[in-house]
Amino acid sequence: MCGITGYIGYREAYPIIINGLKRLEYRGYDSAGIILYDGKEMKMSKTKGKVANLEKKIEKNITKTGTIGFGHTRWATHGVPNDVNSHPHYSESENLAIIHNGIIENYDTIKKELISRGYTFKSDTDTEVLINLIEEVKKQENVKLGKAVQIALNQVVGAYAIVVFDKTHPNELVVAKLGSPIAIGIGKDNKEFFIASDASPFIEYTKNAIYLEDEEVAVIKVGKSVKVRKIKDDSIVDSKVLQLQLNLDQIEKGGYDHFMLKEIYEQPKAIIDTYRGRLLANEGIIRMAGVDDNIQRFLNADRIIIVACGTSWHAGLVAEYLFEDIARIPVEVEYGSEFRYRNPIITNKDIVISISQSGETADTLAAVKMAREKGAFVFGVCNVVGSSIARETDAGAYTHAGPEIGVASTKAFTTQITVLSLIALKLGLAKGNLSKSAYQNYLHQMELIPNKVEALLNINDKVKHIASIYKDAKNFLYLGRGFNFPVALEGALKLKEISYIHAEGYPAAEMKHGPIALIDENMPIVVIATKKGHYEKVVSNIQEIKARKGKIIAVVTEGDTTVKEIADHTIEIPETEEAFTPLLTTIPLQLLSYHIAVMLEKNVDQPRNLAKSVTVE
Ligand code: G6P
Repeated sequence: MCGITGYIGYREAYPIIINGLKRLEYRGYDSAGIILYDGKEMKMSKTKGKVANLEKKIEKNITKTGTIGFGHTRWATHGVPNDVNSHPHYSESENLAIIHNGIIENYDTIKKELISRGYTFKSDTDTEVLINLIEEVKKQENVKLGKAVQIALNQVVGAYAIVVFDKTHPNELVVAKLGSPIAIGIGKDNKEFFIASDASPFIEYTKNAIYLEDEEVAVIKVGKSVKVRKIKDDSIVDSKVLQLQLNLDQIEKGGYDHFMLKEIYEQPKAIIDTYRGRLLANEGIIRMAGVDDNIQRFLNADRIIIVACGTSWHAGLVAEYLFEDIARIPVEVEYGSEFRYRNPIITNKDIVISISQSGETADTLAAVKMAREKGAFVFGVCNVVGSSIARETDAGAYTHAGPEIGVASTKAFTTQITVLSLIALKLGLAKGNLSKSAYQNYLHQMELIPNKVEALLNINDKVKHIASIYKDAKNFLYLGRGFNFPVALEGALKLKEISYIHAEGYPAAEMKHGPIALIDENMPIVVIATKKGHYEKVVSNIQEIKARKGKIIAVVTEGDTTVKEIADHTIEIPETEEAFTPLLTTIPLQLLSYHIAVMLEKNVDQPRNLAKSVTVE
């Protein structure tokens, strides 16, 4: 996590960096800091808290001039979030400065060694250790900054995206990457360069960018092209300059109060964008190059292992139901973090599907690398084009949800389910488990989903009203069965993430094995009780809740009368295939958590302690 951004060129760097940091705040917002070089001196300002705090501090403590600079927004790993631990960090001599996203795992050993050589440390961070290591190498080896960075990084264990500046050679910035992402925007005629964790800080300036690969270091000098080398063997890399597709309006709020709300409302379009060109319902075709090109592998697979974290893991659980039900392929769903450290049994007849909105989640990425080493075919379902997981996988399918900025994931979830549904349907037909007519019906039903989501969004006011009744509850329970069990988990996660209310998701039938003990007249329970999903059984569970005076918020299929009579509140969703209900049932749960968080005056888009892109273990 952490967001980093930098500039070297002819413009004033300050507005570019500060606006860039605001766009990167989704990556962490424990503290923020900036360095500007005005041709004579480096000026640093940093503070605990958000970029807005930094802006206020800068007004008082530094001048905003300089055409070279960089900034950082932090998600704390080593050292509490305070002013001193904020980035940037100076080296001992204060000639060098650094910003860093990642973790230096062997920092303690290096720190002791540096202390024995007379270095002192102001902060508790691993980053200050790294900049002093670079300074020491530079001194000992008498090399330029790029080389010193390269040598130092060869001694380091961990993950990093760094930007380093040397005021004794103030015409260049040195950038390096391992594990954490970094993009270099290239201005016209190489007169200016932009650096950032993703391209959002510089899209209004240039659409040309290089994404560094792992273990690469780049020296960026105005007037020259970017020189990229491999950190390990010093070989020159011919990096591809990519044309960015991102637009400014995609990363702005567009009239909504929060990114999360905007992204909830974007779901009809996001789902269409995800199936556009893939779902050809009238022709009875699902076209997905990543699957088509590897169809025999999919058809011969003994099982599918899905690895993911957070909301993406919940999409993986929905996919388990989809693949097993529709394609009859056994599925295991794993947390990236557990899978990678468990010495799992993987063979070359396994397919590993990794799901990740950002494509950068460290645990998911590590699981992907391990699965490939063990011989599995790895397929990625990512949203961010060109992200690490997208690059590390053998094949994949993007979700095309557009940038998701709210830390709580919404449209990424529904578009992940869309992609995974298409794959399941394709395999179901190819394996002969799905009749042509059933397949055809699914295709037409999928085509109708965006309109149904659109119609469903009209329940916003009703959900807001329900939110106003239960916003002060201390606990929530979410129940669902089958395809909607993962939706219950996701609903509970959404509420926890942004309102800090304790919430648990449970399979409805498991309620009686524990959570039922919690139910009293103060406990709101969200139950997904759609017509086709074990309806009668869920109705019985609702009765059990009623008998204990729990407050029932039921998500039901349009026209339902039975649950309406028992529940305190019902929210109707349009009818669809059971397998596609998660695409609809999740919408009211997203809105419920959103409204509760707003009413509780929480920071919806940047909930405390969380970050959007988790590039640490
Ligand atoms: C973080 C985010 C979640 C996200 C999870 C996995 O925890 O706050 O919203 O679901 O990471 O992220 P990924 O990018 O791999 O889907």
